[in-house]
Amino acid sequence: MAEQPGGLDLHLDVRLDGPRDGRRGPGALGRSLESALRDGVRSGRLPPGSRLPGSRSLAADLGISRGTVVQAYTQLIAEGWLTGAPGSGTSVATPPTPTAEPGEDALAGRSHEAETWSVDLRPGRPDVGSFPRTAWASAVRRALATAPSRDLDYGDPAGLPVLRQAIAGYAGRARGVRAHAGSVIVVGGFSSGLALLARALRGLGGTRIATEDPGLPRHRELVRAAGLETAPLAVDAGGADPAGLPVRCAAALLTPAHQHPLGVVLAPERRVAFAGWARHTGGYLIEDDYDGEFRYDHHPVGALQALAPDRVVYAGSASKALAPGMRLGWLIVPRSLREPVIRAVEDTGASVPSVTQLAFADLIERGEYDRHIRRSRLVYRRRRTELARRLSSPLPGVAAGLHALLPLPSAERERRLIEAGRRAGVRLQGLHAAGYWHEPSGDRPAALLIGYAAPPRHDWRRALEALCALTTSST
Ligand SMILES: Cc1ncc(COP(=O)(O)O)c(C=O)c1O
Repeated sequence: MAEQPGGLDLHLDVRLDGPRDGRRGPGALGRSLESALRDGVRSGRLPPGSRLPGSRSLAADLGISRGTVVQAYTQLIAEGWLTGAPGSGTSVATPPTPTAEPGEDALAGRSHEAETWSVDLRPGRPDVGSFPRTAWASAVRRALATAPSRDLDYGDPAGLPVLRQAIAGYAGRARGVRAHAGSVIVVGGFSSGLALLARALRGLGGTRIATEDPGLPRHRELVRAAGLETAPLAVDAGGADPAGLPVRCAAALLTPAHQHPLGVVLAPERRVAFAGWARHTGGYLIEDDYDGEFRYDHHPVGALQALAPDRVVYAGSASKALAPGMRLGWLIVPRSLREPVIRAVEDTGASVPSVTQLAFADLIERGEYDRHIRRSRLVYRRRRTELARRLSSPLPGVAAGLHALLPLPSAERERRLIEAGRRAGVRLQGLHAAGYWHEPSGDRPAALLIGYAAPPRHDWRRALEALCALTTSST
């Protein structure tokens, strides 16, 4: 340990011991010192610019020769870890701005891309610019002012009771779900909820989950990452077809209110058939109610869960109603699955931050969440109607949700439109391009998925014009 006048408290893990039979070899001590210094820089314990002890004082501290320290410093200066010259002060070098290695830039690339696209019309996104910042800030302030300190401790892995109570009330009132606080598990968005469910089902001996075809590829990936297989469930005008359920299947993942991406509603007789299958086989239905609040022309379609609360896991998310960045969702779980899912939360450390939970409970209880949804629904409905009028072709699935489907004659036309969009700075997504079909094949239907909710209010008209210009081009 060497104490710096500047305050740098230098702990170096230099191996001074070792075999005494000479196997250690000459220079081993110096290499050990070099490696300890490299570790210190790499880990950030020795930040750029920090001054290292003089060679004499470090040698005295470590009980080694000064020559060994000088040699180690010289080597690390040559390698670029340190700067200076022994004798005139040695410091930790400032690293050059890191350049991403190939394959390392997936995340950085995403945020970069978001900046370079002029219009983003990918599906599945609300207008995040309309996030109710003021209401949220008040909810956070109130929550912090009133919550007992114990709510900031390690809490119940299922979530804070106050939020579970609020969610049970909301899901019952707005979506017709049969829920009570004890059946709610707060999760970090639907994606996290699905990963936890898949893990729990795997732990119970499950090997496979049926997922809709077409369906969100990300969900298939999450299921597979938990060690289960996925089986395709065909979708037609009546939604997912229960006739295609495999014999042995732990669960079926469904989007009953608004099939993603085709936009159809699960037909009543199929709801009954899925519930019957679950009861008969002991399987579960996972109801992904990702945008159930956004139905424009009729009353919202009620949740499938109410038909078989003992076999259906209902999943809600704040990603569409508030913002995906909230990473907030909820599962309403049959009694038989509660313990396994809660264990999955504990085993993966997937709990949701308690301040977020407290503020969200406040937002729901004060009616701000409902108010925000009602306001957004009006805006999105107007956009939906305008889009349908401008594209002047039937747009399936636009009775609800945040995206429209523009059917195209071929996968090739889809590819060309997306490419033309890319050149024009308009970000588009298609059934084929985004991997919605389980088995990619050119003869499956092609379509653009137009996320009309995503553009900020001030930019909606420009986004619409840009889209119309593309779709009417001869591309
Ligand atoms: C089909 C579907 N389910 C669920 C979600 C919500 O996922 P999360 O809550 O993880 O943001 C999305 C978001 O795009 C979706 O498209």
